Amino acid sequence: MSRQERKMEHVNLAKNTSSITPNSDFDAIRLVHRSFPETSVDEVSLMTSICSIEFLSPIYINAMTGGSHETGQINEAFAKIARATGMAMAVGSQHAGIRDPQVAESYRIVRRVNPSGIVMANIGAGAPPDYAKKAVDMLEAQLLQVHVNAPQELVMPEGDRDFHGWLKNVERMVQLSPVPVIVKEVGFGISRETIRQLRDIGVTAIDVGGRGGTDFTWIENQRRADKTYDYLRGWGLSTVTSLLESHQAEQDMAVCASGGIRHPLDALKSFALGASAVGIAGPVLRSLLHDGVEQTISMLQSWQAELRTLMTMVGATSIPAMSDVPLVILGDVKTWCDVRGID
Ligand code: FNR
Repeated sequence: MSRQERKMEHVNLAKNTSSITPNSDFDAIRLVHRSFPETSVDEVSLMTSICSIEFLSPIYINAMTGGSHETGQINEAFAKIARATGMAMAVGSQHAGIRDPQVAESYRIVRRVNPSGIVMANIGAGAPPDYAKKAVDMLEAQLLQVHVNAPQELVMPEGDRDFHGWLKNVERMVQLSPVPVIVKEVGFGISRETIRQLRDIGVTAIDVGGRGGTDFTWIENQRRADKTYDYLRGWGLSTVTSLLESHQAEQDMAVCASGGIRHPLDALKSFALGASAVGIAGPVLRSLLHDGVEQTISMLQSWQAELRTLMTMVGATSIPAMSDVPLVILGDVKTWCDVRGID
């Protein structure tokens, strides 16, 4: 199977997955209601920044695709949505575009459609380190996402089997990248042990990419003839536990939350748990493929308006102020915190 066909299989499998995850860890987080918010919707600012790059909106469209004509059309649509909503966006892994200049246009299109928007480049942790600069230059990107996805590779029939040297590789990418690097999981979450390893190699931003939404062990298992790894569904740390771990591990790391964000209340809770921005992938893809560009723009504009409403409700006028909102942690997430010594 060609890389292009695989990318389209990922899109089709993600398209047909349910967007609502039952038993999300976000349900174990309760923000404490206050009866006197003492603010107004007009005062709320949704501006945020990651590594000194200013985002007009704290919600961004996360990495998904590129590498073929069809996926280039999807990227073009994402770029139109990003432009209309003021959202930052990432492209999917650019390996294909770096190796084959003929398909680079399927990524570059996002910069042509949205010349002044925030665009994030994307490569895998196992790629040659010089890809960091190539991926950024291809898009004139302001940030570079380096994704880590070992479980996905292992379940993928044609995936990597040897993960020696990834950390060293990422260190080199951080040195060679002309823009700040965000190390990103793809739906398996990031533990504090990993965060400390990343801090030690000079990484200053992460996207926790936690469990709870798109599940790449499930997607890759569907692509296997033997369907062996069905039992791995749900592997990894949830987005909520990853945020709690990151807060404990490293206060100075910029943290983006993604993985299973179902609605603006999950985004609100992510900010209360210390995230500076929130990424969504599967829900944007499904909205685009089922309802089209205009409907997806309306959905995301509604999310932005709802976020202002919710921030007013909890008395926070800015994303940084969200970390002062008191919260209660219940159930399994509380147990996780107790066992891991997170307070
Ligand atoms: C992804 N994701 C992804 N991530 C990445 O860093 N590089 C990539 O190439 C891809 N490719 C990709 C394809 C498709 C079809 C989907 C749906 C997702 C992972 C994505 O950015 C995100 O981390 C996860 O999907 C979890 O977020 P959601 O989908 O639960 O909002």
